[in-house]
This record gives sequence, C-alpha cells and structure tokens, in this order.
Amino acid sequence: MTDSITVHVPDHTTEYEIDFISDLDSLWSSVRKQIGDRKFLAVTDKNVLEKVKGVSGFDPVVIKPGESEKNLKNIEIILQGGFEKELDRHSVLVAIGGGVIGDMTGFAASLYMRGIPVIQVPTTLLAMVDSSIGGKTGVDCAQGKNLIGSFHAPERVIICREALDTLPKEEIQNGLGEMIKHGILGDEKHFEDLETLSQSLPRGEKQSKKNLDVDGIFGLVQDSIAVKHKIVESDERESGIRGFLNLGHTFGHAIEHISKYEIPHGRAVAIGCVMAANFALDKEMCDEETVDRIENIFHQFGIETFCDFPESEIFAAMKTDKKQKDGKVKLVLPRKIGEVEFYEILLSEYI
Ligand SMILES: NC(=O)c1ccc[n+]([C@@H]2O[C@H](COP(=O)([O-])OP(=O)(O)OC[C@H]3O[C@@H](n4cnc5c(N)ncnc54)[C@H](O)[C@@H]3O)[C@@H](O)[C@H]2O)c1
Ligand SMILES: [Zn+2]
Repeated sequence: MTDSITVHVPDHTTEYEIDFISDLDSLWSSVRKQIGDRKFLAVTDKNVLEKVKGVSGFDPVVIKPGESEKNLKNIEIILQGGFEKELDRHSVLVAIGGGVIGDMTGFAASLYMRGIPVIQVPTTLLAMVDSSIGGKTGVDCAQGKNLIGSFHAPERVIICREALDTLPKEEIQNGLGEMIKHGILGDEKHFEDLETLSQSLPRGEKQSKKNLDVDGIFGLVQDSIAVKHKIVESDERESGIRGFLNLGHTFGHAIEHISKYEIPHGRAVAIGCVMAANFALDKEMCDEETVDRIENIFHQFGIETFCDFPESEIFAAMKTDKKQKDGKVKLVLPRKIGEVEFYEILLSEYI
C-alpha cells in the first residue's frame, strides 16, 4: 500500500507530500529515494534504533529517549553531527522517531547553515497524526515546554504502518487521544469511525495492544491528518483557528503540570477534552449526549479520564500556560462533535 496526500503551506511557496507505506522495507527505499544523491544526516533515539528494523542502516545520530532530552544540548549534538558528515546547504536531515526526535531534527534543520530541508519519518502514532504535520519545531527549556523553536515545514513526511508494530500500547493510546481530539474539533465522521472502532473492542476490559486493532487505527490516520492539515493550511501561525488544535490541551497542560508530568500527555488531553465538554455543557453550549460520547470513546480505548485534582487548582495552573494573556485564557469548547468554539475566561473567576 502506497498512498499520499499533499499539504500546501500558505505563507510559503512550498508544499509537501505525506506518503503512507505498509512495510519497513518499502519505507526505507522511499526514504533513500527522497534523499537522492544529497548528503544527509539521520537522527533517531535509542528505542527506535533498537526496536525498528533497518534504522541502523542510516548511521544515525542517536539521542537518549524521552521528553527531557528535547533540549538545546541535543540540538548542538545534531548540528555537530551535520558538520562531521560535512553537510552543506544542499544536504538534508532525516528525523526517524517520535515527536521528540521530529521536533528537534526539524529545529536543527532550520538552523543548520540558516536552514536545510528535513524529511520526517514519524514512528509513533502521535507523531504520525500530529507532530510531524504542520511545521512546528523546537525544544523545551527550564522555563517550559516548546519555548524555543521555529516554523520549518518538512520536505516530505513518510509514514509506515509496520513502524507501529513495536510501539507500546500506552504510546498507541497517546496517539489515539490526539485522533479523537481531531474528530471532536473538526470532523464528525472521523469521530464516528473511531467510535465504531472502539465499540468493536471488548467492553470494560483493560485494552491490550492486540485488542486495540492497530490496522483499524492506521486506516484512520489519513483522515486524522486531514483535519490537522486543513487547519494548518488556512492558518499556519496560529493567529486564529489553529488554536482549535488546543482542544483539551489548556486543561491538559495544567493537569500535566500539577501531576509533575506523572500523568502522560495522552491521558491529560483525554481528561482535558472531557473537562472542556463538561464546561461547555455548564455554559449550555453543548448537550449531555456530546459529553457522554466524548467520555465513552476514551474509556472504550482504555484511556482513563478520571482526575481528582480540584478544578480551582487546574484553573490556577493555567496561569503558567504560555497562551494566557492578562490573566485570561481562550478555552476551546465543543458545540457538538465536529464543531468547536473559543470561549475566553478570566482565570481569577474560577480560582
Ligand atoms: N510539532 C508539533 O506540532 C507537535 C505536536 C504535538 C506534539 N509535539 C511534541 O511531540 C512530543 C511527543 O511525541 P511522542 O509522543 O511521539 O513521544 P516520543 O518521541 O518521546 O516517543 C514516545 C516513546 O516511543 C518510543 N518510540 C518511538 N517510536 C517507536 C517505535 N516505532 N517502536 C517502539 N518505540 C518507539 C520513543 O523512544 C519514546 O520512548 C512532545 O515533545 C510534544 O511536545 C509536537
Ligand atoms: Zn497533544
């Protein structure tokens, strides 16, 4: 199976293609073909190197896995790797990994000799449906997540089904959280397809990876990307509707922050989506059925949405959100499945 879609980037003359490939052998030959006769540097992390067959053939720079590695020190290591391989302005970087590797490699590519292309090869579900699309790159620092970065659209994104075979269940669930988010904020049919998939799973059980039907999920990756790229195409720099992609994230980031990052991102977003839906219900912006459907779909996929932090503490933590301004935040709230709206609140009224 090889399939592809094209993404146009509005304030640039560029556009890029996203390819969908079924097996790793075909993936690597596509990546080689895309590199062509240019010099390149591949970047990956240790887990991906060990678990995904064929990565070592690219002689990559290998970073330790984990969000804490998404820092400037590793950017320097990637740039130095580029100099060692004598990359020039015509060369290309290749990110093979999850969002951490993709964000860092994209950022390094935007800096190397003032910018060289990057090919994104996402190997987590989250990177496939979210972080490899849209051109945001960057690293974290002591002051917060993603505070240093750039916009640097990929030259091409190449997505492979077989890469998901080694991905742990929790990481599949993280990606599912973002797919469900895409359904709620912009595509009722995508939500329904995910709902149908979730209903075919055994009820009330802790979902194992086998139960999760990775083939079925991969079949919906393209639709999920379509939601994101439609929004990105119309608003690359987050002036307006790109903010819809923050659904569940203003609550989610606050929850991650309070839990000292014990609660994984995917679960925090799931809790955040349910909180946003309940908040919308409270403001009579959506009905109870919408809230129930949102809560149920996460549960069916085995993603817990219970959270015992007091609401006031969650709103207080939003004060550290980089998108808050003058004590106000713009929440993204569902009107119904497939449609969201901004709703600005003054945090002091909820703390
Ligand atoms: N740029 C954007 O627009 C954007 C959007 C969303 C998220 N992000 C960023 O993405 C990051 C999260 O990405 P993530 O969830 O992919 O995390 P990640 O890159 O840390 O990967 C998760 C884990 O899976 C492992 N892994 C990756 N591929 C594997 C495979 N095929 N088999 C086995 N193990 C594998 C990794 O080593 C890691 O331990 C965050 O830093 C977040 O800020 C960026
Ligand atoms: Zn997210």
